[in-house]
Amino acid sequence: MAGKNFFASKAGAILAAAGSAVGLGNVWRFPTEAGTNGGAAFILIYVLFMLFLATPIMVTEFTIGRYGGSDVSDSFHKMCGGKRGWKWMGLVPVVGGFLVLSYYVVVAGWTLYYAYEAVTGGFMHKSADDFSADFAAFSSDPVQPLIWVALIMAMTCGIVALGVQNGIEKASKIMMPMLFVAIIVLVVNSLSLPNAALGLKFLFQPDFSKVTSSVVLSAMGQALFSLSVGLGCLCTYACYFRKDVNLMNDGLRVAGIDTTVALMSGLIIFPAVYSVPGLQPDAGPSLVFITLPNVFQQLFGDVPFLAYIFSLAFYLLLVMAALTSSISMLEMAAVYFHKKFGISRPWAAVMVSAVCMVMATFCSLAFGAWKDVLIFGMNFFDLFDFLVAKFIMPIGGMLMCIFLGWVVDEKVLRAEMTNNGTIKSPLYPVYRFIIRYLAPLCIMLVFANELGMFSFLK
Ligand code: ALA
Repeated sequence: MAGKNFFASKAGAILAAAGSAVGLGNVWRFPTEAGTNGGAAFILIYVLFMLFLATPIMVTEFTIGRYGGSDVSDSFHKMCGGKRGWKWMGLVPVVGGFLVLSYYVVVAGWTLYYAYEAVTGGFMHKSADDFSADFAAFSSDPVQPLIWVALIMAMTCGIVALGVQNGIEKASKIMMPMLFVAIIVLVVNSLSLPNAALGLKFLFQPDFSKVTSSVVLSAMGQALFSLSVGLGCLCTYACYFRKDVNLMNDGLRVAGIDTTVALMSGLIIFPAVYSVPGLQPDAGPSLVFITLPNVFQQLFGDVPFLAYIFSLAFYLLLVMAALTSSISMLEMAAVYFHKKFGISRPWAAVMVSAVCMVMATFCSLAFGAWKDVLIFGMNFFDLFDFLVAKFIMPIGGMLMCIFLGWVVDEKVLRAEMTNNGTIKSPLYPVYRFIIRYLAPLCIMLVFANELGMFSFLK
């Protein structure tokens, strides 16, 4: 039932990895972060981090996964050749993947509910105040969001239980092209709106006076989050890559697709926000749940059919983006338990989903009954997001670079990058320089700056 344990085609491998990368991080988190961090300057720093940090770390994960051919922890184990300490490093992404899935499915559940509302015409004839009040009532309800979280978790679990080719590859091959079509339709629509130019200015005309250390940290976190690095998802998918896959080229393709989708999400959202009086680009996480449905109603109020179609396209896009990413996170954790403890794949998926459901309950309640339960000044949802994007991903990514750049024998790395000498890899020296020096140094500097170690320079 589970099918063969490799991706049947090269296109399937790229689409699955792109599906893991492209997700709520692009359509929900990127506009939120860009909006609250000042727009274009943040985006420029984000693109630089994408190119020189997140993409090389993704190629590093691909390398470890394909070499090891197993779950993320075992792949590390195999690659480190028993070197003390390093074999435990594979557990960092397992923990990170668990944490991220637990809060990711909360937002994914919201998107499923909003898609349902869009399908059933629930947004029709609502005012801006209605959207705000509805979102506040829905997200703070102790039960309702959890029903949608359970549904999206069940869909994720079902796809993972079906296996690599029948589940993940098929789902990615169906959903990714649909997602691209929906994005293109929505971008064309947004660019034709009256104040599209203001949205473009916000996205592409940088104001460097807005750059602070926290903007830089957020841009780095967003680049890492967007490519799902440091969580072991890409490592796990790479163990299903065939030996003739060009890891460097695929890494660059996936990063290219991911960055394009993030920028296109900005092109959907900001021209629309600027075209409706009274809306602000820095609305924060509610941007796509309060601002956007409002935008569709205000812009097409006279032609309800258009409001219906654009809302539907947008929320279906969000659901597909969320699903292709959540399956990669669940796959990572389920395969770990499947291989480590010999539990069948479907049962491992069910078990991990059940544990994530419990943690997702904490995160969902953080918007209502438990909003005052704070740890280090953060509610559960913000704490998980902070731990993942600003701590586990950068630290995990840095350790992976040090591992592959300094610990693993260079011959092994070169053999993987050149498919045992059968292909040329002209970027290999640049890549090796980045993972040995640039990436670890850059992550350390961003942390040191955030901790105030350079404040004497000001
Ligand atoms: N990379 C995933 C996303 O962007 C986590 O949603």
